[in-house]
Amino acid sequence: MKKLLSVLLAVLMVFALVGCTNKGGEEGGEEAKTVKIGVAIYQFDDNFMTLYRNDIQAYFDALNAKGGTQYEVVIVDGANDAATQTEQVNTFITQGVDGMIVNLVQTSSDALAKAVEESGIPTVFINREIADYVYGEKTCYVGADARDSGTYQGQIIFDQPNHGDLNGDGVVNYIMIMGDPENSDAQFRTEYSIKYMVENGATVNCLYQETGNWAQAQGQELVATELSKEGDDIEVVFCNNDGMAMGALESIKAAGRKVGEDIYLVGVDAIPEACEAVKNGDMTGTVLNDDLGQATAACESLLKMLAGEVITNKVNYVPYVMVTTENVDQYIK
Ligand code: GAL
Repeated sequence: MKKLLSVLLAVLMVFALVGCTNKGGEEGGEEAKTVKIGVAIYQFDDNFMTLYRNDIQAYFDALNAKGGTQYEVVIVDGANDAATQTEQVNTFITQGVDGMIVNLVQTSSDALAKAVEESGIPTVFINREIADYVYGEKTCYVGADARDSGTYQGQIIFDQPNHGDLNGDGVVNYIMIMGDPENSDAQFRTEYSIKYMVENGATVNCLYQETGNWAQAQGQELVATELSKEGDDIEVVFCNNDGMAMGALESIKAAGRKVGEDIYLVGVDAIPEACEAVKNGDMTGTVLNDDLGQATAACESLLKMLAGEVITNKVNYVPYVMVTTENVDQYIK
């Protein structure tokens, strides 16, 4: 009996001890850590980058919902102005944020990237690539190889039964609506779409090439003017992105033309409106620019660097996917 009592007592003492420890853990334990992330977007008024920044926010919201480390994310709009963005990034640096994601306004200069390197704050550059830039220990880039998106655009048109030559005169007459001409996405899409056609034997003729700065309204206006000038001669409208293609579509409809019957239209991004247009035949095709894949890769890279890891894959390209009526259902959200 005595032995039983002492065993019981010992068991009770252990429970009491565990109880105390737990209580200490709950009340006196560490506060959830807060990590500050500054995100600088080149321009909020951009269809694709709007999807992208919402994906970044959603990524950290999901982490926060799990409990544990909390991520305080501040996203700022560079309004497509390099001076504004430089000030915003410098403010993040002086505030001492823990990490940054930067979508540069200006890629013809590496001045801001250099300032970021010097701050020593882990930073992932996204979407707008500085050509031949050598990233430092705490920086890296996540984007996509724009050559591929151009190639897919050329392939979409070349895969049509007449290879894009709707009137059968042996020449594909096209117009090219470009994004921001300083931007490598715009340059490569313009070059590689046509390169694919030519390398596969098409004879092409550029009736017009102009920048619409990635913007729907500008795409609409430029295409309306060209349709009124060149009329039925235009067989293909290449747009460097879907935003401008959606504008082009308005003008094509207003001019009484019908995509797939007397004109072809192709874009890049696979934004929801463009996927709907591909599905119902208003666009010949588009190319998925994987905003979610890129946002996820960017956030993961940043978290790794915050944990002290060095990213060895300094330029991380997320693949593009060709989107036509055959597979568009997969991309309709
Ligand atoms: C491209 C995208 C465009 C535009 C641009 C901004 O990758 O296709 O729609 O967002 O980035 O630089």
